[in-house]
Amino acid sequence: SSNKMWGGRFAAGPDAIMEAINASIGFDKRMAAQDIAGSRAHAAMLAATGILSDSDAEAIREGLLTILSEIEGGKFTFSAALEDIHMNVEARLKDLIGEPAGRLHTGRSRNDQVATDFKLWVRDQLDAADAGLNALMQALLGQAEAGADWVMPGFTHLQTAQPVTWGHHMMAYVEMFGRDQSRFRDARARMNESPLGAAALAGTSFPIDRDMTAQALGFDRPSANSLDAVSDRDFALEFLSAASICAMHLSRFAEELVIWSSAQFRFVALSDRFSTGSSIMPQKKNPDAAELIRAKVGRIFGANTALMMVMKGLPLAYSKDMQEDKEQVFDAADNLMLALAAMEGMVRDMTAQRDNLAAAAGSGFSTATDLADWLVRVLGLPFRDAHHVTGTLVGLAEKQGCDLPDLTLAQMQGVHDGITNDVFDVLGVQNSVNSRMSYGGTAPAQVRAQVARWKDKLA
Ligand code: ARG
Repeated sequence: SSNKMWGGRFAAGPDAIMEAINASIGFDKRMAAQDIAGSRAHAAMLAATGILSDSDAEAIREGLLTILSEIEGGKFTFSAALEDIHMNVEARLKDLIGEPAGRLHTGRSRNDQVATDFKLWVRDQLDAADAGLNALMQALLGQAEAGADWVMPGFTHLQTAQPVTWGHHMMAYVEMFGRDQSRFRDARARMNESPLGAAALAGTSFPIDRDMTAQALGFDRPSANSLDAVSDRDFALEFLSAASICAMHLSRFAEELVIWSSAQFRFVALSDRFSTGSSIMPQKKNPDAAELIRAKVGRIFGANTALMMVMKGLPLAYSKDMQEDKEQVFDAADNLMLALAAMEGMVRDMTAQRDNLAAAAGSGFSTATDLADWLVRVLGLPFRDAHHVTGTLVGLAEKQGCDLPDLTLAQMQGVHDGITNDVFDVLGVQNSVNSRMSYGGTAPAQVRAQVARWKDKLA
């Protein structure tokens, strides 16, 4: 039989394959609450503008509330023959209230309806990402505060570079996640215009009040161009690109946790709650959560690329291609929220191995730069000469199988006769980090100042 929504010009119903490729109800039922909120706002506006009678609007309102509770209670039967969430809800409304249900779609199209529903759904995800990042940053601040003066090696090329503090390393991620949070907020501010009332593409001849529906749904204003309103998916792409960058940050941190928790590093102990064992090797405690977080960036960035490809060739206004927007965004959002929560839990539970960090900080000639700086500051050597003298001393220590502070004064003076006993002060890692007092540097006092600034900001 032909479709009850548009069966007028159709003699036959769709082929089974047509229904299978066309139906989106399997996934867009996740927007049921948004769809019903949009319809309630639309019906109330139709009544306020006199387009719909108050009694019809009231019947619609009550019917929609019944449907919402049916869906929330798991008592709603979704039908693929009815294609999508919009027509599933409208068909059920017809069952419940009869004729007035057919008046709900006045001055509206599924094109502005789906754009509205999806925007409301994405807007909630922007808020959820914001909150998830907040919790993660709080966990990082806790680690940074506890270990503001714990020394550890800082790396470039994953080779020991200079000593830094644990707190400084944690705060680097707070900066990154803070930028992610501001990207989600920017996207939210920009996307918050209501498509409802753009109708199919051209607007409508009914005297609708778009300001009223925009306000009812928490939008700042109605969108200003009906063609743009129904064909815009920038809000989804901005969510996905901000999510991609955020997932990339999560992945870098996850990679560090995988390295740091290995027997070769032993920089952190992950909690049992966020680790797994091996079915064969009894000694194993694996950082699976970190590994999965590291992998999530793949599917999230994939979703971003997929939706860019869907959108890039579409003429204005709506094309059915756009139905492919939702699964990408749903999957990316689910996985981003999960990754944020898992990372927050891992960070809260993990224990920095303070002694191992300190031992590693002092090895690998990590204070060679401090030595070169001392030669410049105290002996007045040009930096390039100081670099050469220090390099010679590093070579000497390497040959002796010791670290820089283990060389004797006599050995040092053999390389440069101006060197005095004071040099040993700068070869200690704690002195090294304490001296990095430049703004944004690794000195514990600088780290504590940044922790205080962020605590204020997030409060
Ligand atoms: N299920 C559709 C989507 O997700 C709703 C809009 C359909 N509009 C249309 N003219 N066929 O995009």
